[in-house]
Amino acid sequence: MNQLAKQTTSSAVSEIVRGLRGTPKQLSPALFYDQRGSRLFDQICELPEYYVTRVETAILREHAPAIARAIGDDALLVELGSGSSTKTRLVLDALASIAAYVPVDISREHLFASAAALANDYPSIDVLPLCADFLQPFTLPRAKQNPARVVFFFPGSTIGNLDATHAKKLLTRLRSLAGRGGGLVIGVDLVKDANVLRAAYNDAAAVTAEFNRNVLVHLNRDYGADFDVESFEHEAVWDAAQRRIEMRLVSQRAQTVMISGASIDFAAGEHIVTERCHKYTLAGFAAMALACGWSSEKVWTDADSQFSVHYLRTI
Ligand code: AVI
Repeated sequence: MNQLAKQTTSSAVSEIVRGLRGTPKQLSPALFYDQRGSRLFDQICELPEYYVTRVETAILREHAPAIARAIGDDALLVELGSGSSTKTRLVLDALASIAAYVPVDISREHLFASAAALANDYPSIDVLPLCADFLQPFTLPRAKQNPARVVFFFPGSTIGNLDATHAKKLLTRLRSLAGRGGGLVIGVDLVKDANVLRAAYNDAAAVTAEFNRNVLVHLNRDYGADFDVESFEHEAVWDAAQRRIEMRLVSQRAQTVMISGASIDFAAGEHIVTERCHKYTLAGFAAMALACGWSSEKVWTDADSQFSVHYLRTI
């Protein structure tokens, strides 16, 4: 399960309709992650063109001892969108001691299964799973041991799927939750050659295209929509001015789609924006973090400066 939360309330339909009636038409990237979408995302992470997961994992593996030193002993380590906690293990293995590990995820079943597996593999660690949408306010659980500090772990460059306003809102909220001396280990994808970026979101095996179109399958199954899925084509466009990839579904013909009784008209060639993936420069990200009360203590990148992992400390 990916980090972005899936909304399951009844108000979700009206939000979806509002998005589809806007200009441009837009859907929340949270809609990618039904069961099939989560599986397709796992496949994306293995693709030769999708460097993000591979490069970040290599950075975490290589610099785990330094990251552990930055986190320090006896921290309350809180992972946002913990999923299977795969990358966490690299950090946990390098930490000498930890007050508790708090995996935060919206997907209850997956969260508790992963937390149980982790607790089994690390019997000395107090694992305190928290089922929450981290984009909404949440309260940290109390650990048995009094933590020396609170450190958030937010890998995967999921911050890049938020626009600047929402990214700043999240960073500011994490800053106040972390309190004095708190930290944030965060993975941030970097601006790079446009061809590398385009290829990462337009893979030859068309897994990303399938992942994108699966949003419509999901809407048909769970939200009473009647999209003709095959009549929408995947497109991923690099917007150099905004420094982001925009994922779109382009209607190949003029058509009207119904969703729970509401009609949505498409002109031929009209698209739905399904996701934006913002890329940062090191200085640009540090400046945004600073504006939200975080100072950049340390940054680790790969040799080609494709990806970055930052240790931010509260000011
Ligand atoms: C989850 N997130 C960081 C991915 C990204 O690269 O923005 C989602 C993704 N979309 C298409 N490929 C991967």
